[in-house]
Amino acid sequence: MSDTRPRRTFAVISHPDAGKSTLTEALALHARVITEAGAVHGKGDRRATVSDWMAMEKARGISITSAALQFVYRDHVINLVDTPGHSDFSEDTYRVLSAVDSAVMLVDAGKGLEPQTLKLFQVCAMRGIPVITVINKWDRPGLSALELMDLIQEKIKLRPTPLTWPVGEAGDFRGVLDRRTGEFIKYTRTAGGATRAPERRMGADEVEENDALVWSHAVEEHELLSLDEADHDQERFLAGETTPVMFASALQNFGVAQLLDLLLDLAPEPGASTGVDGAVREVDDDFSAFVFKVQSGMNNAHRDRLAYARIVSGKFERGMIVTHAASGRPFATKFAQAVFGRDTTSVETAEPGDIVGFVNAQALRVGDTVYVGDPIEFPPVPSFAPEHFVTATAGDIGRYKQFRKGIEQLDQEGVVQVLRSDLRGDQSPVLAAVGPMQFEVVEDRMVNEFNAPIRLSRLDYQVARRTDAPGAAELSGVRGVEVLQRTDGTYLALFIDKWRAQTTARLHPDVMLEELPAGH
Ligand code: G4P
Repeated sequence: MSDTRPRRTFAVISHPDAGKSTLTEALALHARVITEAGAVHGKGDRRATVSDWMAMEKARGISITSAALQFVYRDHVINLVDTPGHSDFSEDTYRVLSAVDSAVMLVDAGKGLEPQTLKLFQVCAMRGIPVITVINKWDRPGLSALELMDLIQEKIKLRPTPLTWPVGEAGDFRGVLDRRTGEFIKYTRTAGGATRAPERRMGADEVEENDALVWSHAVEEHELLSLDEADHDQERFLAGETTPVMFASALQNFGVAQLLDLLLDLAPEPGASTGVDGAVREVDDDFSAFVFKVQSGMNNAHRDRLAYARIVSGKFERGMIVTHAASGRPFATKFAQAVFGRDTTSVETAEPGDIVGFVNAQALRVGDTVYVGDPIEFPPVPSFAPEHFVTATAGDIGRYKQFRKGIEQLDQEGVVQVLRSDLRGDQSPVLAAVGPMQFEVVEDRMVNEFNAPIRLSRLDYQVARRTDAPGAAELSGVRGVEVLQRTDGTYLALFIDKWRAQTTARLHPDVMLEELPAGH
């Protein structure tokens, strides 16, 4: 029977070490996990679902694949789509955000807003994804709560509207003041945070003697915040003007239930989407979905190619024949997986907001739409500003055919962007990526999957700007810039640094030189 309970689909955006794995585990502890998708990629033994399909992942103790975790809480189905959480960036990290309706920004109370969080936040802002902020590690000494509010306002230009306020400074976490009810939610530690931490809700008059001082301090600050228009406003939150804030310790399991409550109470549910021709697909229209990630090599024996799709509308039923919008061809969904990573089970039905993995999806590419009934094609998933560039040549010239095939495949999957120019010729394309680790993925997969060793050599470029054919013509021969063409036809002008890009723009005012999204 299909589970049609309301959905919430979100991702956690954070800097490595802010506690994303710990929080994911804590969420799973509070809710009933339906399908575990290898989403918890922790380092310790406690984490049972480490995804290690690549030897490289294992060696580094990180996760390169994206996965999703589905669980039930208060009669809702929650989909947590994982953003790969290593110190490097990849296009996948960004793309995941096209598949969610809201994001939780996890901030380390000791560190404030760190670079990777800011980059991911920019993508949320660009896509209009509402953001809930969780200040984590409040059990450890850190910045003051008011300082953190200032940082949020300053760095991401969103008005922080705390829904809970800490009772006790960072390092002395007694509980939180629920700003909506004025109650004290008192936490009790459990050994290692391995079980749900007991919470006690009480009115202001029930606060015990030994908490009285920190409580009155919290009340004072709460009143100050109200005077400062820092109260939650649902419309402004959905419009991306404010971010509700709450305080937590993922490790101690403090604040985790409140986060789940906030997701249910405030985060948007899956809504209608607009196609490229302006047609609107309502959630209860015929089935439609778009692919936000493609992955192959999950299983060496089968050379599987998995396409991860977010369902936009209608009910998905395994075995249904859908139309692939890009080719107009039918695609049979005989094998669809709810679970990503190594252990997989097939999914029978799925609803808008859910993520499914289509197996044997040779034809599906990132950004592709599949549908039933009235044709629909969703806008392409944006590609992001690459900041790292290498030239690629076949390591073994006798295996050039395999080399070409491998590069083509990795390009289609969006592992790297492949750039070419007449000048460089076809034998040695330029590979571009958001983060340098993508190149290690390329090297690994070229050898192990395509049996085509590859030689990469670094280029000095750091900045890419979009240009057009006349721009490419005018800039040819100009010092310090090289124009190449991406497989999708886009011309990219590459510069050694930002300064060089700005100078070129000044000297060639007629040339189109546009910034690509989310670069810096
Ligand atoms: P990540 O996925 O965002 O990279 O972070 P992860 O959960 O792995 O957490 C990074 C480190 O921060 C871990 O410590 C984890 O235990 C710790 N941590 C996470 N949440 C909290 C919290 O609320 N309070 C405190 N005090 N620490 C927290 P580690 O020593 O690096 O790893 P481990 O050996 O504990 O796994």
